[in-house]
Amino acid sequence: MEKNRSSFTSKIGFVLAAAGSAVGLGNLWRFPYLAAQHGGGIFLLVYLILSVTFGFSLMVAEIAIGRKTGLSAIGAFNKINKKCSFIGYLAALVPALILPYYSVIGGWVIKYLTVFCTGGASTAAADGYFDGFIGNTWQSLLFFAIFIGVTAVVVLLGVEKGVEKVSKIMMPILVVISVGVAAFVCISNGIRGEWEGLLYYLKPDFSNFSIMTVVAAMGQLFYSMSLAMGIMITYGSYMKKDVNLESSAHQIEFFDMGIAFLAGLMIVPSVVSYSGIEGLNKGPGLMFVTLPKVFNEMGPVLGNVIGALFFVLVLFAALTSSISLMETVVSIIQDKFHLERKVSCSIVLGASFLIGLPSALGFGVWSGFTPMGMDILSFFDFITNSILMPIVAIMTCIVVCYVMKPQAIIDETSLTGKFKLAKLFKAMIYVAPVLLIIILIFAIFEAFGITFGGFLKF
Ligand code: TRP
Repeated sequence: MEKNRSSFTSKIGFVLAAAGSAVGLGNLWRFPYLAAQHGGGIFLLVYLILSVTFGFSLMVAEIAIGRKTGLSAIGAFNKINKKCSFIGYLAALVPALILPYYSVIGGWVIKYLTVFCTGGASTAAADGYFDGFIGNTWQSLLFFAIFIGVTAVVVLLGVEKGVEKVSKIMMPILVVISVGVAAFVCISNGIRGEWEGLLYYLKPDFSNFSIMTVVAAMGQLFYSMSLAMGIMITYGSYMKKDVNLESSAHQIEFFDMGIAFLAGLMIVPSVVSYSGIEGLNKGPGLMFVTLPKVFNEMGPVLGNVIGALFFVLVLFAALTSSISLMETVVSIIQDKFHLERKVSCSIVLGASFLIGLPSALGFGVWSGFTPMGMDILSFFDFITNSILMPIVAIMTCIVVCYVMKPQAIIDETSLTGKFKLAKLFKAMIYVAPVLLIIILIFAIFEAFGITFGGFLKF
């Protein structure tokens, strides 16, 4: 069963590939709107703490499981213990459910790219432009179809390598542009003397803390670092034994956190200065409502150029992620049902389009349908990030603690030298399932409208 696996030839190759999968719309689109919604600075702090403790430990565990077994999620859990293979399938369900709505957002990115390429900065910056766009049935379907179509063509032709090469050039440019835009936002806010937004984002305010801050930060952690869905297990299976696993995990974490922080710095303070504190609750549309206003402020020429450049870069970051999401699902279906790649790819494309339809239409013709009080896209987002991923993460921790034993992971990680944070890892892997169960229960209560507004608030 075990195929000859090709390996990443170097550590930097591994880190870039894993970071390429991790960095995407999660950092640029999802992080800022969650930070805005869930208390700004306090969300940032909770996210940071969770990521260097729990996120780090789960990432090490997943990469080590992959490298130790040499298999991707389903095979790996099966090899550890036959009774565990269902966890692999559960993990595989997550990317299958994320891909459709991820592509809806990808479509929004394409739309904004076309607007800025045609000099529409001021149009896009106008109030109500975004709502008009997502409320328009044909437009939202068209751009969603283009994004998922492009993803499928790349996966079908097997030219991911080409896209990866391009994105390796694009990523550093994205970082530079993001630093530039973030600096512009800080400086122009400073000149106007508007510190409120910056303070909201950077200064933790404990009165904004609620249990939902932790629920949201935890979900974001899984989503952004591509954890709890088998992806890092697959990447680990390609990692060579002589690469330092611990420091690779640190680097991936650092990249991911850095880009998310920058994206927040571009977006959150700007929302406050353009729309006031009420604007913070805009939800999934936040980036598309706010950034055009920032670009427009740069003037007609520069605004359109920087805007177009920015959305091209975001598009590539999104495409590398969507390709990797689709690839995962396609190869599982292909292996499981012994199908040809073409057939499996068409099935995934068709199914994703159908599953994504409600998310695409949920802001327009189907806006009356609000499962658990959310728009349909947020509903899919909630089910995957706040319900399914914690379940997969709990099970992964349990398997590591009681089936494999944490020592197995520590040994695998120590192959290239001492595992410096072994104690932290061991503590986290035992404590995390308990915390996760509590978080999961809160998330479920929240979903049924039982909120904890006053509860657990400091
Ligand atoms: N982490 C990616 C992002 O931040 C999204 C993502 C979730 C992903 N799961 C994935 C990407 C699996 C590739 C593979 O946008």
